[in-house]
Amino acid sequence: MSKEINRIAVLTSGGDAPGMNAAIRAVVRSAIYYDRKVFGVYRGYEGMIEGDIVEMNIRSVSRIIDKGGTIIKSARSKEFRTPEGRQQAYEQLKKHQIDSLVVIGGDGSFAGAKIFGEEFDIPVIGIPGTIDNDLYGTDVTIGYDTSTNVVVECIDKIRDTASSHNRLFFVEVMGRDTGFIALRAGIATGAIAVMMPEEEMSIEQLINTIDRGAKTRKTSSIVIVAEGEQHGGAAEVAAKVMAQYDHYEAKVTVLGHIQRGGSPTVFDRVLASRMGVKAVEALLEGGTDVMTGLINGKIELVPFTSTFDKRSKLNEEILRISKILSI
Ligand code: F6P
Repeated sequence: MSKEINRIAVLTSGGDAPGMNAAIRAVVRSAIYYDRKVFGVYRGYEGMIEGDIVEMNIRSVSRIIDKGGTIIKSARSKEFRTPEGRQQAYEQLKKHQIDSLVVIGGDGSFAGAKIFGEEFDIPVIGIPGTIDNDLYGTDVTIGYDTSTNVVVECIDKIRDTASSHNRLFFVEVMGRDTGFIALRAGIATGAIAVMMPEEEMSIEQLINTIDRGAKTRKTSSIVIVAEGEQHGGAAEVAAKVMAQYDHYEAKVTVLGHIQRGGSPTVFDRVLASRMGVKAVEALLEGGTDVMTGLINGKIELVPFTSTFDKRSKLNEEILRISKILSI
């Protein structure tokens, strides 16, 4: 028989992502809608260990749906990886008689959640929040749409200078292990090339591509470089290209944390709202050890294990059209 759920805690863990606040709001409001108590755990697992836990009400989450970041703050906790750390965290939950947990974050946060849930028999539901979009089991993660929109807005501005001065720009975007942001932004900005961890590209291949553009009178070229690609990032790629190629004046822009900030898009707000409600309903229906995922337009529940055992892959069709359109 599944456990009774009366007091739900919500936390955000790992890198913040726009839309996390909309997810917190949805968890808080739906828990209250179903007559349950709900608590915010500040600073992720670190705050849980230290007992930084506050009861929330419907007004605690007013006017946050449009805000980037996370009002309950986020952290990466080393201590939670130890049995002692998790025991301390459990003691804190017990103090507030919390019987269930919603974790908004990435696969690392879910791995911790799964161990914790099993050790202390606490039902846990995950909500995917990361701009990187690299979580298996959901077509999109919360924050990805907003961050790629920010990237595109920035690159459109860079393009103005690139075309006015006949320059070659290398723009570095986030994506430690993956090229989701780079690829989507590449299509949306008409980049001449996209360099990503999943699709290795040699400097010779890149130079051939840039040369081909120059021969067809291309007056500005943008190369998008995911931070985790093989050569070490935009500055390294630019240096290697310029060592062999001096027809163009090359510039490097690293977009950095600008990509993680700002008001979430409509898509992210709605996705986060749907997932937040689903997470609470899943708990009330006896669910645990699962993440909410958007699959073919529907919000489904995906086992935690598949989110860290499997890797999400770049969409083949998007890859193909990126190659066709960048000539
Ligand atoms: O995991 C999301 C991410 O944005 C990565 O793409 C990036 O490498 C990392 O976070 C940066 O993390 P931090 O803010 O801790 O430097």
